[in-house]
Amino acid sequence: MITPGEFKQRRKHLMRNMKKNSIALLASAPAVTRNRDVEYPYRQDSDFHYLTGFDEPESVAVFAPGRKKGEFILFCRKFDETKAIWTGKHAGLEGAKDQFGADEAIPIEEFAQTLPTLLDGKSLVNYPIGMNAELDQQVMAAVNTLRGKARTGAKPPEEFVALDRMLHEMRLRKSADEINLMRKAVEVSIHAHKRAMAICRPGMYEYQLEAEIAHECMRHGLRHAAYPAIVAGGHNACVLHYTENADQLRDGDLLLIDAGAEYGNYAADITRTFPVNGRYSEPQRLLYELVLEAQLAAISKIKPGNHWIEPHEAAVKVLVRGLVNLGLLQGRVSKLIKDEAYKPFFMHRTGHWLGMDVHDVGDYKIDDKWRSLEPGMVLTVEPGLYVSPTCKEVDPKWRGIGIRIEDDVLVTEQGCEVLSSAMPKSVADIEAFMEATR
Ligand code: GLY
Ligand code: MN
Ligand code: MN
Repeated sequence: MITPGEFKQRRKHLMRNMKKNSIALLASAPAVTRNRDVEYPYRQDSDFHYLTGFDEPESVAVFAPGRKKGEFILFCRKFDETKAIWTGKHAGLEGAKDQFGADEAIPIEEFAQTLPTLLDGKSLVNYPIGMNAELDQQVMAAVNTLRGKARTGAKPPEEFVALDRMLHEMRLRKSADEINLMRKAVEVSIHAHKRAMAICRPGMYEYQLEAEIAHECMRHGLRHAAYPAIVAGGHNACVLHYTENADQLRDGDLLLIDAGAEYGNYAADITRTFPVNGRYSEPQRLLYELVLEAQLAAISKIKPGNHWIEPHEAAVKVLVRGLVNLGLLQGRVSKLIKDEAYKPFFMHRTGHWLGMDVHDVGDYKIDDKWRSLEPGMVLTVEPGLYVSPTCKEVDPKWRGIGIRIEDDVLVTEQGCEVLSSAMPKSVADIEAFMEATR
């Protein structure tokens, strides 16, 4: 878990790096209605959680470096005994200070009326403009209040800048405690993938394996998936974000499962593609081993100092060479890469940052150049090949095969560590694992 000390350290780091005479505002995620009186499970905004650890809706965090009455103000719900009977515990104003380290806690109902005073005389307001309509409206109202009082000496702020840059650079490099949370999310996700792989039989429905995944994660106390599981049999795997999970699994087809649990607000994101009946057919094996070779080539490029794009370039090179060898593409490898002729078969990037958000924050380029990898960054490596069932240009034996292999990789001082390496991945390992469960 992240200690109160680490949350405090993050706020300190942020405030040390904020511009002179500035203030930062961050709103909690809203609770969202699913139907009438029923809400979706609440998930705090990742930035808000990162700086506060406070997972309640109807809250605004204010960071005011140098403020005499305290630099960290948390506007939140007062403790309400009736509410506690219906919906359970909430920290209240005392809890906001005692448990979450707020210097001052103020009822959320007082936010709008307090804001002009907080903004008065500040030259810069850091807040994510346009992300939260209510906060936008409250900030504008506060600015107008200050404008109206200009003759009495009030000074409205002049600059409004999103906090994202600084905050997301911080989030990009994971601490030891953050990495431990990710390890746990990955570990339980592997249990879930293995369970699905062990239970899978021709004739089952995709949703039945989705249920096995959810069961295994919940059984370990990880009640929320980091994203909706993709359980895609046969050519459903060629739909990149397939989440219907409604079809029956057929003997002779492959099954692509992309699923990850969330733990302490940190995500795992793992994909395996295996044969429904436990044995890859020859065409399936040839394409699978090509994707695997591309994935291993990409992983071998992950080390400090290498650029973000190097793993992707390595994967593309292997895939294109292989597609030419197998006859799915014709031409010179370098020209096919330059012309992006592989895109009908591999249309997404080889990975993304991973953290509290599955597609985590952090720039991929700095000053228009691909950034260098650094220890503490976590990324996915997930090349794939997807041959549309209607692709006329290739031999019918390849059609409808969709494969992705995805692991979660931590950049270390020495190179990298594949956090999800305990999940079977080679043809031999997957077939042996499935054989043992038949
Ligand atoms: N599961 C989403 C992704 O792989 O990016
Ligand atoms: Mn994924
Ligand atoms: Mn991914």
